[in-house]
Amino acid sequence: MILGGRALRKTFASELRALAPIDFAVERGEFVALVGPSGCGKSTLLRILAGLDQPDEASSLENRANPGRASFVFQEAALLPWRSALGNVELAIELDAKAASSEARRFRARDALARVGLADFAARFPHELSGGMKMRVSLARALVTDPELLFLDEPFGALDEFTRLDLDEDLRSLWRERGGTVFFVTHSIEEAVLLADRVWVFSSRPGRLVLDHRLAGLPAERKRELRRDPRYRQEVETIEAALARHREPRA
Ligand SMILES: Nc1ncnc2c1ncn2[C@@H]1O[C@H](COP(=O)(O)OP(=O)(O)OP(=O)(O)O)[C@@H](O)[C@H]1O
Ligand SMILES: [Mg+2]
Repeated sequence: MILGGRALRKTFASELRALAPIDFAVERGEFVALVGPSGCGKSTLLRILAGLDQPDEASSLENRANPGRASFVFQEAALLPWRSALGNVELAIELDAKAASSEARRFRARDALARVGLADFAARFPHELSGGMKMRVSLARALVTDPELLFLDEPFGALDEFTRLDLDEDLRSLWRERGGTVFFVTHSIEEAVLLADRVWVFSSRPGRLVLDHRLAGLPAERKRELRRDPRYRQEVETIEAALARHREPRA
């Protein structure tokens, strides 16, 4: 196990219960997708797992990754406009206390950009990049520190369908190449099933973990064509049904 929680919950100061007590254990190398209604606490949980926020007292959270070996990717690429793509990726290693020489940093940043398909765009500035390319830079910035835990919160939600599928396929193959444990929040059930090996379905707020589902019957390699496979459709239906059962009707 790399990350586990027992009776993990979160209440905000206003007495707002964001997360009901949840229990889970995730093994090193798993790819977990989190889906659930808007406001059910997915981002809250991700932030807690990443150590960016604290759960309520009496919650138990065990993180066996090496300290500092976690990266977070947000929905917005959030690049510094005055730094090139390469400069933005380098920033992540500059902030690392154990950072090496500037040549070594540059080498690692170039390598990370190449891994996300942006070798030829290292010198470009954010305003010269498309939305998909900016997200690739953000991904390179997350990967350059070689994280054991990678957290992504609706990273491709603002991209068009084709770009999103490109990034989904690339993220999946990057993960297969390099390993690491991934937590990926999405509002798209289809994306969750295309990417992950395990899907967590949450109820409406306060979010409860209502289904912890392993996609055992799907191939390890995931390409967009899989979406036409009956096994894939079956998994999507399973998740949809669980979501529908635990969704509060809106007033
Ligand atoms: N810092 C905060 N202070 C107070 N309340 C918060 C804070 N962060 C989140 N919340 C509340 O906690 C609940 C869960 O929010 P969260 O952002 O985790 O939901 P989510 O599942 O990520 O939703 P979405 O799918 O819309 O991104 C919401 O009711 C939200 O208003
Ligand atoms: Mg969210």
